[in-house]
Amino acid sequence: MRQNAVKIAPSILAANFARLGEQVAEAERCGADRIHVDGMDGHFVPNISMGAPIVKSLRHVTRLPLETHLMISDPDFCFDEFVEAGSDSFIVHWEGNNNLHRTIHRVKDLGKRVGLAINSATPAAVLEEVLPDLDLVLVMTVNPGFGHQHFIHSTLPKIQRVRRMIQQVRPECELELDGGIDESTDPLAVAAGANVLVAGTSVFGCSQGIETAMRRLREATK
Ligand code: DX5
Ligand code: ZN
Repeated sequence: MRQNAVKIAPSILAANFARLGEQVAEAERCGADRIHVDGMDGHFVPNISMGAPIVKSLRHVTRLPLETHLMISDPDFCFDEFVEAGSDSFIVHWEGNNNLHRTIHRVKDLGKRVGLAINSATPAAVLEEVLPDLDLVLVMTVNPGFGHQHFIHSTLPKIQRVRRMIQQVRPECELELDGGIDESTDPLAVAAGANVLVAGTSVFGCSQGIETAMRRLREATK
């Protein structure tokens, strides 16, 4: 199968939950590379979203990797449940985690890919000690908790810094951006060094449909 240089990860936070299976299957047909599932606990972020049962249901409708972005206070407690449901990778946050090394190695021990997310105000330097252990770094380009927010442009220099760190220490590590990605911000994201783009509203909220949305994102990426 052809590998896209820049991967698109539609975020189901913006999907119509009454038609979730159909919409995810359509995103797959239209060239999505993975599906981004946002778990929120109403504590780490001021919103509650979805848990392992959603992953379990989606596992039956798509063959794409299901990446689980955990915006929750104690991610270590729920890995087993998500693994059983079918998650292929986990993205945990640097913020608020006093035992990050343990968390990262717990995911690796489960045989899953591990990503570390940093919020828009968190410096790139915090990645230094853990980068050799990571499969992915996710830079938040909005404040976590909600879809349909504006891309924070002041994150761009940091994204470039993260790209340089990755090239020096672990070139195979992916650099993903999450929040406010659409056809206007997509080229900025790629120019700054991102190679995975999460897109919620611009895919599932597109009035002309998922196919048009995915085509526009791909064209903006070229
Ligand atoms: C926000 C979530 C994002 C969200 C992005 O906290 O982590 O994944 O779904 O949504 P859009 O693409 O609408 O900014
Ligand atoms: Zn996310």
